[in-house]
Amino acid sequence: MKIGIIGCGYVGSTVAYAVLFKKAATEIVLIDKNHQRAVAEAADISHAIPFSHAIDIYAGDYSDLKGAELVIIAAGVNQKPGETRLQLLGRNEAVLRQILPPLLENAPEAMILMTTNPVDVMTHLAAKLAEELGYNGHLVFGSGTTLDTARFRSLLSAKLGVAPQHVHGYVIGEHGDSEVLTWSIVDIGGLQLDDFVAAQKLTFTDADKEQIDEQVRRAAYVIIEGKGATYYGIGAAVANIVDVVAHGQKAILTICKPLKEVEGIADVTLSMPHLIHGKKRMMPLPLKLSQEERKALKQSASIIKKFLDDFKN
Ligand code: LAC
Repeated sequence: MKIGIIGCGYVGSTVAYAVLFKKAATEIVLIDKNHQRAVAEAADISHAIPFSHAIDIYAGDYSDLKGAELVIIAAGVNQKPGETRLQLLGRNEAVLRQILPPLLENAPEAMILMTTNPVDVMTHLAAKLAEELGYNGHLVFGSGTTLDTARFRSLLSAKLGVAPQHVHGYVIGEHGDSEVLTWSIVDIGGLQLDDFVAAQKLTFTDADKEQIDEQVRRAAYVIIEGKGATYYGIGAAVANIVDVVAHGQKAILTICKPLKEVEGIADVTLSMPHLIHGKKRMMPLPLKLSQEERKALKQSASIIKKFLDDFKN
């Protein structure tokens, strides 16, 4: 599969590097407004090819997106220490308006995978803008809370002493402060969390829950305080999405896409588990959440909705 990556900062170039090692694509075109940067990243990453697999990676312009089946948007500014993802919105929406027309003109059939934060709001705006420009907004989706779900599963797995592949649970809603960890449907080897804890004679208290919740929710802030940006985690999460799409893996991932309705809130984009079957088909899965989680999801949806509404006005 040929893919394009627009924006070769930390996230875009780490995605390319992770895609190379995941063997998820055969051709990667890197595009950046600073072309020299894209050339340098392509060269640096290409030197890792002998340690992975043969792939064509090069810096290009929008016309090189022809034939790409998936285009990742990683362009935009990132969070400053202490800044929320939603505060980035205005700055990154302007970037989006420059990118989408030439992208769509050259790759009208490509799926568009948004990673720029605030990712849910940006995905919503990109889908609407694509429609306004006369293209299929349904092909736009975002990395959403795929990384948060991975953080949740790995923290819980470490606490419970089970490999993360066997610990199921999602982070849904906003990729940000109001996200919701779906504790009530956590499943470990077919057992609910409490039953697993009892069977293994572990102790797992409300304080443990709160600690994991906080660590998942605050992960990006903590990393940004320490090193200025996050990119390895999101790079791997996005490379995994590329792999799932390219190889028709029928995986369930908490990507974000515009949804008709969430907990009574209409036309909003947030993350829910989606079954990704084949290229271009993503089906949201209904979840049996607790009352408390449904309330939190509604709250998360209304926060995103309010940003979208305020932004329009
Ligand atoms: C994070 C960034 C990608 O959560 O938002 O690491």
